[in-house]
Amino acid sequence: MAQNIYDNPDFFSGYSQLPRQVHGLSGAPEWQAIRALLPELADKRIVDLGCGFGWASRWMREQGATSVLGIDLSENMISRAQEITSDNAITYRTADIETLELPEAAFDLAYSALTFHYINDFQRLVHMVHRSLVPGAEFVFTIEHPIFMAAAHPRWFEDEDGRKTWPVNRYAVEGERRTDWFVKGVVKYHRTVGTTLNALIRAGFTIKSVEEFAPSLEQIRNNPALEEELERPMMLLISSQR
Ligand SMILES: C[S@@+](CC[C@H](N)C(=O)[O-])C[C@H]1O[C@@H](n2cnc3c(N)ncnc32)[C@H](O)[C@@H]1O
Repeated sequence: MAQNIYDNPDFFSGYSQLPRQVHGLSGAPEWQAIRALLPELADKRIVDLGCGFGWASRWMREQGATSVLGIDLSENMISRAQEITSDNAITYRTADIETLELPEAAFDLAYSALTFHYINDFQRLVHMVHRSLVPGAEFVFTIEHPIFMAAAHPRWFEDEDGRKTWPVNRYAVEGERRTDWFVKGVVKYHRTVGTTLNALIRAGFTIKSVEEFAPSLEQIRNNPALEEELERPMMLLISSQR
């Protein structure tokens, strides 16, 4: 059973106050880069894996998707998503993606944002997603960048000039990593970029695009705290096709 940290009250309270949860998609600096990877959404049957509050699920319906199935492990996240959604074509379901089985050839797009780094058996997940898609369907997802993940312990230290430096620790050693984020001991799973891409190739996906998101100078001007993201990639954005 996967760790369900989003149902921890302290974690949930902190997480709910992040700009991307208060303001939705416009509060996520990488959103425009994700949009650029998404196919035309009209008439698509979509699954949103790790849907959280359902920001993307609702936006996809606004773009004309036929239906969206949002899946999340956390009752907290699913309850909030249900509270702020009034759309019969969006279904939210509580389930563990680690063991989830979706129906075969049931979707035209699989989408996921910042969830798969919580999944231990990524290869099983990718095979399962492949089976759930019709031929030609796309699989677009974002994860915490493996370099960011490997730099998590310690996250940074100051060099002699007082400049923040992020060491990358044991990048080649894959598997469980624990980090402190709102609460102690949040479990994530580190995989190299190669392992991540090869999982897709082995399952039969064609990789269309790989983006190591970095904020634009304009974004940094508007929000100087984002400058830190130029030091190391924080997110990996991938689009692929069955
Ligand atoms: C960083 S949040 C992202 C939420 C949403 N995709 C967004 O971008 O706003 C990660 C989500 O993944 C969910 N999650 C983590 N592990 C999961 C699992 N094993 N099965 C299903 N959902 C999981 C969490 O409950 C949380 O809602």
